[in-house]
Amino acid sequence: MLEELGAWIEGAAETGRGVRPAELEESLHREVAAPVQHLLERLAEERQRSAAARRFLEDLVDAFPDPVLLVDGGREVVRCNAAAREALAVAALPVPLDAVLRDPGLTAAVEAALLEGRTTQVDITPPMDPARRFAARVSAAGFAGEDRGAVLVLREMSEQVMIERMRSDFVANASHEIRTPLTSLVGLIETLRGPARDDPAAREEFLALMAAEAARMQRLIDDLLSLSRIELAAGAPPEETLDPAPLLRSVVAKFAPRAEEAGVALELRIAEPLPAVVADADQIHQLVANLLDNALKYGAGGGRVEVTLDHLPRAPAEAGPVAGRPAIRLCVRDFGPGIPAEHLPRLTERFYRVDRARSREIGGTGLGLAIVKHVLRRHQGHLSIESRLGEGSRFCAWLPSPAAGP
Ligand SMILES: Nc1ncnc2c1ncn2[C@@H]1O[C@H](COP(=O)(O)OP(=O)(O)O)[C@@H](O)[C@H]1O
Ligand SMILES: [Mg+2]
Repeated sequence: MLEELGAWIEGAAETGRGVRPAELEESLHREVAAPVQHLLERLAEERQRSAAARRFLEDLVDAFPDPVLLVDGGREVVRCNAAAREALAVAALPVPLDAVLRDPGLTAAVEAALLEGRTTQVDITPPMDPARRFAARVSAAGFAGEDRGAVLVLREMSEQVMIERMRSDFVANASHEIRTPLTSLVGLIETLRGPARDDPAAREEFLALMAAEAARMQRLIDDLLSLSRIELAAGAPPEETLDPAPLLRSVVAKFAPRAEEAGVALELRIAEPLPAVVADADQIHQLVANLLDNALKYGAGGGRVEVTLDHLPRAPAEAGPVAGRPAIRLCVRDFGPGIPAEHLPRLTERFYRVDRARSREIGGTGLGLAIVKHVLRRHQGHLSIESRLGEGSRFCAWLPSPAAGP
């Protein structure tokens, strides 16, 4: 009898519920099996409740906008929330903390939390997203038993802090860009004074090089000034009314000789009639000139550059903030080598170039597309870039147009 009861309890514990076997005696069932069954049912309910509580906690931590990570004594991330998975590209857990965030300050803070239970705060930059900066708060967490863990809460730094950083990066970049031609100039002057002093042929050659370096500096200063002027005007929207077609024709005409020299067929297609837009003529001129300059500089190998201008009653999604509204679309398309996709999001950053050496060699400043972006920002427009390797690139400027039609 007891054996039977034992088997029954074992079975019930395994399945979570016991079905009364027919052969179990009535009294035995009432006094032992039924209370055991009741206990098992309570246990199952308890399990469900704690699973629900755990899901609730997980949802709660997931709803947190800041990345939160739990690190165990083995310095492995054992838990993290949705914000952390996104910001730090955490795929599967557990993962060594080092693999997601390698930062000496953070390592020290985690050690302090694990070994001494101390709470510390450090600033960190995620390795795969160096443009972002987080303030990390690291504190101790109690695990089951003797184990101690560390909780990391990251808070993205304020825009103010980021702006400060961008400003100092910009000054450093600009100084570096100016110093490069300056260093060449200094070297050339020294050579002219020394070894090339009495060599008329060498003198001519060096003077030509010096002129080229000086011109590079001038372009750089001009672009920097343009950029700062456009940014200064950013708060004041343009007021002039502009007929885009004649302006585009005149800029394209200016580039015609250069295109011919480079063996590039420069085609212009304007879908008239077009509505007038409220825009700053000088800035739009600069915008087109920069796009054309790039198409001829980097895409000349394709032998053809297409410039198009048209009006859309409803701009598509690629028009960014202009999408869904009537817009003027101005595109410059080349059939050159194209741009690898990973560079596209960064092209409009100041001084960003796909191939630094090549841009320098052909006289680029790295500021052209930053100027284009800022002009469009002031006009509440948008720049869209499409490029395919080996097929070419298409840069489209979208400007909101006042009327639904011409
Ligand atoms: N049409 C294009 N085809 C290929 N690469 C381009 C094109 N336009 C721009 N780029 C890339 O984008 C970078 C940034 O352009 P830009 O800001 O105008 O600077 P710059 O022309 O002075 O180098 C260029 O250095 C080049 O690598
Ligand atoms: Mg350029």
